[in-house]
Amino acid sequence: MRDTLIERETESAWLQSAVDDAVSGRGSLVLLSGEAGVGKTRFVEVVAEGADAHFLRGAAEPASIAYAPVVAGLRGFMRTNAGGLTGCGPLRPHLALLLPELGDAVARATGRHSSRRSGAPSPPPPRKDP
Ligand SMILES: Nc1ncnc2c1ncn2[C@@H]1O[C@H](COP(=O)(O)OP(=O)(O)O)[C@@H](O)[C@H]1O
Ligand SMILES: [Mg+2]
Repeated sequence: MRDTLIERETESAWLQSAVDDAVSGRGSLVLLSGEAGVGKTRFVEVVAEGADAHFLRGAAEPASIAYAPVVAGLRGFMRTNAGGLTGCGPLRPHLALLLPELGDAVARATGRHSSRRSGAPSPPPPRKDP
């Protein structure tokens, strides 16, 4: 499918290099913008097809809450790879902020159990003496 992309050699090499950096542990944020139909989705798909990496997909909608596309992408991945995030090392507690089910796993792995279940309200802040 790679050869069906017309006039995107420079951009493909550039995005491929960002993907290679991410695979070797130097992630970045890439913002791709353009008119509807100009080829953004296809461009990313073609680069993703040739990469030795998992690509997760999530889409924002006007009513989406913050990070909803990221959470959708991660949850989609976990549905087909239940233990797929076990090897994400120091990133895991950060992902657990978005996916509370991972937080429990972190607590179990580190022995730091919490009585707080996902979705439960936070304990009140400490009282300030007057
Ligand atoms: N560089 C390209 N070469 C050939 N066809 C392309 C190219 N970029 C996009 N297309 C085709 O143009 C159409 C619109 O592309 P799409 O990626 O959906 O646009 P966007 O995501 O920017 O709205 C699709 O049919 C896609 O296959
Ligand atoms: Mg698109």
